[in-house]
Amino acid sequence: MKMKIKNSVIILWVALIIGANLINIGYAQKTKQKNMRKSSAMQIFAEDVHSYSNPQAIRVRHVDLDWNVLFDKKILQGTATLSIEHASNERNAPLILDTRDLKIAKVETSGDGKKYTPTTFNIGTTDKILGAPLTIQLPINAKFVRIYYSTSPNASGLQWLEPSQTAGKKTPYMFSQAQAIHARSFIPLQDSPQVRITYSARVHTPKGLLAVMSAEGNSQTSARDGDYSFRMPHAIPSYLIAIAVGDLQFRSLGKRTGVYSEPLMIEKSAFELADTEKMVEATEKLFGAYRWGRYDLLVLPPSFPFGGMENPMLTFATPTILAGDKSLVSLVAHELAHSWSGNLVTNATWRDFWLNEGFTTYLERRIIEEVYGKPRREMEATLGRRVLEKEIAGMDVRDQILHVDLNGRDPDEGFTGVPYEKGALFLRHLEETFGREKFDKFLRGYFDSHTFQSITTETFIDYLQKNLIDKNPKLVSRADVNEWIDNAGLPKNAPQPSSDAFAKVEAQSNSWLNGKIAAQDIKTNAWTTQEWLHFLTNLPQDLGAEKMAELDGAFNLTTRGNSEIAFQWLLMSIKNNYSAAFPRLEEFLTAIGRRKFVKPLFEELARTPEGTERAKEIYSKARSGYHPITQASVDEILKWKTQ
Ligand code: BES
Ligand code: ZN
Repeated sequence: MKMKIKNSVIILWVALIIGANLINIGYAQKTKQKNMRKSSAMQIFAEDVHSYSNPQAIRVRHVDLDWNVLFDKKILQGTATLSIEHASNERNAPLILDTRDLKIAKVETSGDGKKYTPTTFNIGTTDKILGAPLTIQLPINAKFVRIYYSTSPNASGLQWLEPSQTAGKKTPYMFSQAQAIHARSFIPLQDSPQVRITYSARVHTPKGLLAVMSAEGNSQTSARDGDYSFRMPHAIPSYLIAIAVGDLQFRSLGKRTGVYSEPLMIEKSAFELADTEKMVEATEKLFGAYRWGRYDLLVLPPSFPFGGMENPMLTFATPTILAGDKSLVSLVAHELAHSWSGNLVTNATWRDFWLNEGFTTYLERRIIEEVYGKPRREMEATLGRRVLEKEIAGMDVRDQILHVDLNGRDPDEGFTGVPYEKGALFLRHLEETFGREKFDKFLRGYFDSHTFQSITTETFIDYLQKNLIDKNPKLVSRADVNEWIDNAGLPKNAPQPSSDAFAKVEAQSNSWLNGKIAAQDIKTNAWTTQEWLHFLTNLPQDLGAEKMAELDGAFNLTTRGNSEIAFQWLLMSIKNNYSAAFPRLEEFLTAIGRRKFVKPLFEELARTPEGTERAKEIYSKARSGYHPITQASVDEILKWKTQ
């Protein structure tokens, strides 16, 4: 009898709880719908045409990696364990991940993270740009998904270097480059920048080599046991996951800054990057706290396809910034600035790329002004605008738009001067219109209120309207903003940066061009790299081989070590058929794989039949040393057939 009463009390109790919960769920759903933008569990996702994933139904929150780095096979082999969360109304949806050229051996799921059971999966057809979707069936209570896989030796996001391609020549090297959509070639995941995840990793390498990642856990000591662990505690987009393995050494630059490189490069790197700590301090002063703990750099071998990559806590940089005189360190300012614009506040999709790069280019120049003074900022901004104008002149109008439509296209095609320089000019225009004080306050508020979030252009415009335009009416109209965001070309009121130093360079340059003075009388002694670049880019591009020879005789331009100056000079040498520079051109193109240099040089060569011949000859020697990203660009220019 007593038992019966007890049982019915329990039943009643359970019924009450279930009932209350049902009411609660209904209520919660309604309030959630109201607060959709605020609730991270119910984040609204923008349409991302570059991902197969379905984060609105199932959301990956954390990725735990366990990799063996196999240099002999040129593959990563191991597991990725994803922690997932279902949207409450999508319990039956399968998990769809992005992959490219991955070999999937097995997929398991788990409800408790301890006991895993195999599940079925399917790899869809491969798209040239997007790769292939990996669809995984999930039991209703699955919270973890473990994928056993290996990468392809041709993974688009990895480069495997032979010892001969390194500075030390003794040990192999590998590094990743995930932006824009290459993370999927080494991790099966929701490869969209609006899906933010934390990550952890255990990496096994041959003994004697060091692995570093864009995370906590990078070793500063000389111990090299081949077993390394990492953790990124902040939610980041997948394109910021990065790894490098090689014979690496560390050198401290300041209390929270340092540099890694091969031992042979560490001295030069530490000298060149000595101002890094100062730059972090300057950026904090301008835009608020640095939220990532340490800021280290990795100076890579010369095949690194970009100038720099803002991998969190560990910027990857090309060795071509090692000019010996710190003149190319605006690249550090740029990648550091991404710790605010890009990594803290991220473009939600690749059509919002200008939110990353335009803001960062603007911030970069502000940091340069703070650390090196206003004249340097103006020089770099002037060079930036000039490069943009030249590029726009030969560009499809649809690519001249900040909010660019990349549907059906590779997001790498959005990598032009437009998001960078036009984006930076837009922000400079706002700074000039509202005044620096108001604009800086606005910027700081923008970063503080969107920390660790991915946002669209529309979200930015709404924020701009509410927090800057509405508060200071009549200065900028919505039509002005729309012109910047949606129209081709540059608005008439776009800022015109100008530099006194450059005006002086032009005066001298004109005297030489008019025959008033000889080349050797141009007073170049005190010229900075920026003045040299202005001088060269401002010359008539059909100068003629004779005038080129005169300049070369006076200033030894063909043998310059500064990569930016050498690049400009070599470009002009091709245009003017200045053959004395051709051996140096070949040397440059076989030693350096930075796409920004390599691509325009091959493009210029390919304009004539003889040039095309020379290009093909050089490329046949250089290609194997290039990163897959650079290879893809040059293959297209030269219509190169592989195999
Ligand atoms: N995030 C970019 C590099 C990038 C963009 C890689 C898109 C892949 C896809 C990086 O911050 C960058 O802009 N690098 C520039 C240097 C900078 C000083 C303008 C580069 O590599 O040229
Ligand atoms: Zn950038």
